[in-house]
Amino acid sequence: MNNRFKNKTAFITGGTGALGAAIGKRIAEEGGTVFLADLAPEKSECVQAAFEGLTPPVILPLDVTSDEDWRRALDEVVATSGKLDVVVNAAGVVGNGAFLIDELPTAEWQRIMSVNVDGTFLGTREGIRVMKESGGGAVVNIGSTTAFVGSLDAIPYNVSKASVRALTRNAAFSAGKSGYKVRVNAVHPTWVWTPLVEAMLIKKFGSKEKALEVILAQHCVDRLPEPADIANAVAFLASDEAAIVTGADLVVDGGRTLG
Ligand SMILES: NC(=O)c1ccc[n+]([C@@H]2O[C@H](COP(=O)([O-])OP(=O)(O)OC[C@H]3O[C@@H](n4cnc5c(N)ncnc54)[C@H](O)[C@@H]3O)[C@@H](O)[C@H]2O)c1
Repeated sequence: MNNRFKNKTAFITGGTGALGAAIGKRIAEEGGTVFLADLAPEKSECVQAAFEGLTPPVILPLDVTSDEDWRRALDEVVATSGKLDVVVNAAGVVGNGAFLIDELPTAEWQRIMSVNVDGTFLGTREGIRVMKESGGGAVVNIGSTTAFVGSLDAIPYNVSKASVRALTRNAAFSAGKSGYKVRVNAVHPTWVWTPLVEAMLIKKFGSKEKALEVILAQHCVDRLPEPADIANAVAFLASDEAAIVTGADLVVDGGRTLG
């Protein structure tokens, strides 16, 4: 095990979710101080499982769509830890149903854009604002392979993740050119085998075996990623190993976007 996050502090949104908790675990395992933040800070089964045997992380309440929440949370991190080195924007929501473009309710569009785009924008901006003052750092945004393709009936989610991709490039360029020493990158997972995804796919396809057969046929590897696979990619981009990587899209998709 490396020690890439020794003396570093990381702040992870969607922190009590499957990917957020796994990313927090990875950073904590490598010596980092981890703050998890979530709209549902009490929802901690993922966190308990991920952090077994490790120092439990601080979990802060945060609505990623609120300017005020961001200021309060990052002030608390800096007051406790002295500085901030990594922000991971992993909070996200999915569609409440399937809607063709001409039937898509405005409220559904706005709900998804608000969390996935506005929330990621605020986290990127506030992370840069704080980290540029203490010598720099890294922002990692969680997009999705859906950022690269069109969709029949999950349009707001796909558009939101394409926006995360564009935001990442623009923020990286703006921060870099301003001399802030803050890198901004994105990780784009395909379906990750989390309890939520498993339940959703079993509901859609009738069984785990059928779901895996259909979904894996869209890839060129023999398994879907697990949260730890995504955490590994995030940890690389957040670490000094990626010192010259900014504005990048790291697709973790077992070849799904190749075909
Ligand atoms: N699981 C997958 O297959 C997959 C694939 C591609 C991308 N992603 C993306 O990865 C990220 C994490 O997904 P996950 O699988 O861990 O989902 P999850 O539902 O387990 O976690 C998402 C977390 O975001 C939190 N959240 C929602 N709205 C929020 C808000 N307004 N403020 C703060 N927190 C909020 C939720 O409470 C939840 O804990 C999301 O952005 C998702 O779109 C997931």
